[in-house]
Amino acid sequence: MPSLIDSFQQAGQGQVFAFLDQLDAGARARLLAEAAEIDLAEVARLNRTLLAGGAAAFELGDLVPAPYEALPEHGGSAEAWGRARAAGDAALTAGRVAAFTVAGGQGTRLGYDGPKGTFPVTPVMAKPLFQVFAEKILAAGRHYGRPLHWFIKTSHQNHEATEAYLAEHRWFGLDRGRVHLFRQGRMPAVDFQGKILLEQPGAIALSPDGHGGSLRALARHGAVDLMAAEGIDTLSYFQVDNPLVRCVDPAFIGWHLLGGSEMSSKTVPKAYPEEKLGHFCLRGGRLAVIEYSDLPLALQREVGLDGQLRYRAGSIAIHLLDREFIRRVTRPNSGSELPFHRAEKKIPTVDAAGRPVRPAQPNGVKFELFVFDALPFARRPLVIETRRADDFSPVKNAEGVDSPQTCRDDQLRQAARWLAAAGAAPPVDASGRPPWPIEVSPLFGYDEETFGRRWRQLPAPPAVGAGLYLE
Ligand code: UTP
Repeated sequence: MPSLIDSFQQAGQGQVFAFLDQLDAGARARLLAEAAEIDLAEVARLNRTLLAGGAAAFELGDLVPAPYEALPEHGGSAEAWGRARAAGDAALTAGRVAAFTVAGGQGTRLGYDGPKGTFPVTPVMAKPLFQVFAEKILAAGRHYGRPLHWFIKTSHQNHEATEAYLAEHRWFGLDRGRVHLFRQGRMPAVDFQGKILLEQPGAIALSPDGHGGSLRALARHGAVDLMAAEGIDTLSYFQVDNPLVRCVDPAFIGWHLLGGSEMSSKTVPKAYPEEKLGHFCLRGGRLAVIEYSDLPLALQREVGLDGQLRYRAGSIAIHLLDREFIRRVTRPNSGSELPFHRAEKKIPTVDAAGRPVRPAQPNGVKFELFVFDALPFARRPLVIETRRADDFSPVKNAEGVDSPQTCRDDQLRQAARWLAAAGAAPPVDASGRPPWPIEVSPLFGYDEETFGRRWRQLPAPPAVGAGLYLE
């Protein structure tokens, strides 16, 4: 069997070891360990399919908007939603569901120094994202009498910092034994000739393999087996940047289970045609998400006979995954491997003398997997509508749309709505935002219903005013 170095040479990737002689023993060992992570056959395949000939035009194929299950206020059957809700409640009571946060991104747009989950996000207490999710998961566990397992996918870059942070905060009240952190895989960046780039003389330019890498990471790190051992068949997937998300949503879970679906996704109607959300479509008869950058503007703007956008079903990156489906799509040669996508990037590297190079223009390609690419492989996949105001307000950018400010405002509007529904209407502006900060701990109420119940039980409800925190 050829040595690792030989196999890199045979694959035309010997440049990875160009500076090996100059490295000390520790640095050599680290470089060899990084090289051992790389699947050279996979890199060769990606170079052939995604690199040669440049970025291929996206093939739309035979495309129509995907059908979805509408909310009762948009024409859905209230009775069917009631049945779904009951089925989801039963599944949660039976302990069949676990929560799953993908937190392996680099968060470059936010520009925050540290794992994104540690970013303070709530309006009064400045709780970090991880605390918001932990408290929602804790509250749901108490409500259903079955504490939930919580899987968190980290990256090599932020794993230790994430673990140390959660430990320092005593797992925000959760049972340590039910919180499972694992690292996602990495992929090497290549130059436009397909050569694997070095970031430093002793380090390969490796980056996280995308949120679609979640599925392989779940299988590789034993999460799927743990789910089986614990009687969990459904995984509730959400992103680390969205504090409004219902970490486990009984009606969504019920639709998924009653429909015998292997993967289900939430949708919100796009707020305006050019909104940067993926679109749920049927492509060649199979459910798929088409990114906003791939769907021609004319289609994004197309209006149907009912006066609504035809391609209005936007993806907000909330999914349910069946355990055995994860096992199936991650099995080698299953025929259902997720496709990689290429992204041209400015990748810090070294020149022939080993000196650092910080390119001003893209100098290579990173390969990433997207989780929604699993949908076409799923049996009976479903798209279920949700109310944006109760499920989606991501923190992506430092300023402007999808920023800490817009997310804070959405949290304030939610608290005001819940208070109004419970009969304590605070004053609000035209956008529904109260004049002062109000925050509801998930442990007080994690949706309108649990909030209302708790509020009405208070012997003396507090005055609704500046800086209110309900705990
Ligand atoms: P984004 O696409 O917003 O990427 O990730 P990002 O890396 O967080 O942010 P930018 O683009 O650098 O500004 C959406 C979700 O997918 C996770 C992120 O942590 C976030 O929850 N993700 C992304 C991963 O877990 N791994 C990845 O490789 C990429």
